[in-house]
Amino acid sequence: MLRSALLNVMIKAARKAARTLARDFGEVEHLQVSLKGPANFVSAADHRAEEILREELAHGRPGYGFVGEEGGAREGSDKTHRWIVDPLDGTLNFLHGIPHFAISVALEREGTIVAGLVYNPANDELFTAERGKGAFLNDQRLRVAARKRLADTVVACALPHPSRGDVERVRKEHSTAQDQVAGLRRFGVASLDLAWVAAGRLDAYWERALSPWDMAAGIILVREAGGFVTDLDGGDTMLSSGDILAGNEAIHRELLRVFREAGKS
Ligand code: IPD
Ligand code: CA
Ligand code: CA
Repeated sequence: MLRSALLNVMIKAARKAARTLARDFGEVEHLQVSLKGPANFVSAADHRAEEILREELAHGRPGYGFVGEEGGAREGSDKTHRWIVDPLDGTLNFLHGIPHFAISVALEREGTIVAGLVYNPANDELFTAERGKGAFLNDQRLRVAARKRLADTVVACALPHPSRGDVERVRKEHSTAQDQVAGLRRFGVASLDLAWVAAGRLDAYWERALSPWDMAAGIILVREAGGFVTDLDGGDTMLSSGDILAGNEAIHRELLRVFREAGKS
């Protein structure tokens, strides 16, 4: 498959960072049995991966700005472009030796996300998308699921810690959705939840109080696979509010209705 120069830069950076993450993941599996636990080790792994991504992306596209979960924001000389990066999405899975985590890299041009990559080093699944050029899993073109009846859907959600956000509201959303879908799932990796919506594995996904690096790459994946992404009121504030709902057109519409109902009850 012929990929653009931009995607090649992103893929090269992600694969390099993934090599250290994969090594560190192997180590974490051993550390599980130690009493002290692997928490500090994982936070170091996280920083290492971000540093590699920052260096490689700067090498491929000098001057672009960078915002990463670990190192914060760095302005570039080119004010129109900015990388939005989560070097390790799914930290808790990683920490527990669960092979479901990802590197997430998005490129924003003048406020619009124009490219996204989500890569799970544990199973070598590489999701990529560029604006107007479609979304792919490795070399295979992606399309969101076609299901139209809420009752047939599998939907991913979050189970946030009570210290984060309005837990009562989230609980209401869960119970209202649970009554109407075939199954709710909690995988614990926002970027992969979105990638799996793009791949049609999940019919929809919603979560509140995310950070931009959790969702920026996933948003373009879903849209380029023909899906809809909004905040939970149907607006476009995902990156600023942190609230997101993604799915195909019909299921996205149905879930907006479900959450409106949940808000009233
Ligand atoms: C988290 C994951 C998780 C989501 C959390 C995020 P992290 O990111 O994406 O799925 O529910 O809100 O913070 O901390 O593992 O990078
Ligand atoms: Ca994250
Ligand atoms: Ca992270």
